[in-house]
Amino acid sequence: MEFSLAYNSGMSKLMEQFEKQGDKENSSFFNEYLPLIYDRREQSGLDDLISKMRAVVIQVGPDDGLKYLEELYLMTPYRFHALYENETHRIYVLRIKPEQPDYIIVEPLSEDYYDNVSCMNGLFPRGCEKRRTKYLGEIFQVSDLAEVVKVLQSQQIRFQKAENVKNKFIGNENFRFTEPSYFTANVVGYTESDLLDYEGLGLGKRLDLDADELERLEKMDALQKHFGLLDLIYGIDHLATRVFCGSREDAILEFLTMSNYYYWGSFNIEEMNSSTNVCRNPQVKNELHSPAKVFTANNTPFYVNSVKDLASPTEDFVRNFGRRMHHIAYEVEDGETGGLKNIDYVVGKLVESDIPFLAKVIGECKDIPDLKQIFSKASKHSVLITEYDQRCKNFGGFFTKTNVAELTKAAGEDEGLKTMVGD
Ligand SMILES: [Fe+2]
Repeated sequence: MEFSLAYNSGMSKLMEQFEKQGDKENSSFFNEYLPLIYDRREQSGLDDLISKMRAVVIQVGPDDGLKYLEELYLMTPYRFHALYENETHRIYVLRIKPEQPDYIIVEPLSEDYYDNVSCMNGLFPRGCEKRRTKYLGEIFQVSDLAEVVKVLQSQQIRFQKAENVKNKFIGNENFRFTEPSYFTANVVGYTESDLLDYEGLGLGKRLDLDADELERLEKMDALQKHFGLLDLIYGIDHLATRVFCGSREDAILEFLTMSNYYYWGSFNIEEMNSSTNVCRNPQVKNELHSPAKVFTANNTPFYVNSVKDLASPTEDFVRNFGRRMHHIAYEVEDGETGGLKNIDYVVGKLVESDIPFLAKVIGECKDIPDLKQIFSKASKHSVLITEYDQRCKNFGGFFTKTNVAELTKAAGEDEGLKTMVGD
């Protein structure tokens, strides 16, 4: 198919449909290629072939799987759905509702397991503390897997091949995963399955949790219900990846090349010398059904920051841990419980249960639409921060500038070059 001239329309339907938000300026390269990428997607059929995000995939260290499940049982509405074991991994599938993405945790069976994730993590002083542990990427449902792979390969996107991949979940023939991105270190996965039923997908031997494992999860389930948290936390709202300053536009455009998302906009967070950049799925009205993808980067690279004494917590994180998923945000129901805003109530109960948070809940939520937000400390099992968001009075965005500045600062204080107890 001949594309080159056809891409010069310069104004795709998606750009007409969704007005760009935010105040962060993009380069002329970005402004030139964004509509061309949309046009290429439409003409190559990808927009029609790809639908919603159906799962997120996280690799944890050996023996961290169940501990991570216990944490998720307390902090999120995710519940155990199925367990499989293949030649290399235990695969835990967790679910909230069928219409929301599943949470897939892959846990290496062997203490000696190392793969390409370990190599990437090994490059960074704090990434190497938990070398097997990393958010891997998302899985999108597609109507024709072979066609998606063919189209993306023709656009120079590379895929991981079963014969070269150590992780047998990533090498499964019912899925195809891109190579880890040079810009984000995340992969994008595709499957023809709606992932409502994992039988027949070759995930390995189906297992049951044993009595001890079930008891551990039931205990956390009972605790969450006792506190009344289950109905207050909805599900994943957005997934936020941190990248190096120079990779910001590449990270956005590459993700837009490989998905059916659109660029919502970029916001300058002056105080923290960073920006927050958001992509959303045009097929859903509610992010819970296909969460937003957020990319965060410094405005200037670390090596010039001393010239003007600029803040650098975002790039410090990337230098310490590597480019990677930084946090997963959950939406909290708007309203009050026991005289407190729901988010304050939820966080208060989690703190009582020894879940550590960075700073306090930020944002006011008085008489106008507003957002209250908080970051947990990074999980010992996934290295991921959990963000909670309460959108008061139908607040329409993903953050406020003041909130993000305070959250970024609080996280920065916890993400320095100190030692974490590793796997
Ligand atoms: Fe966030």
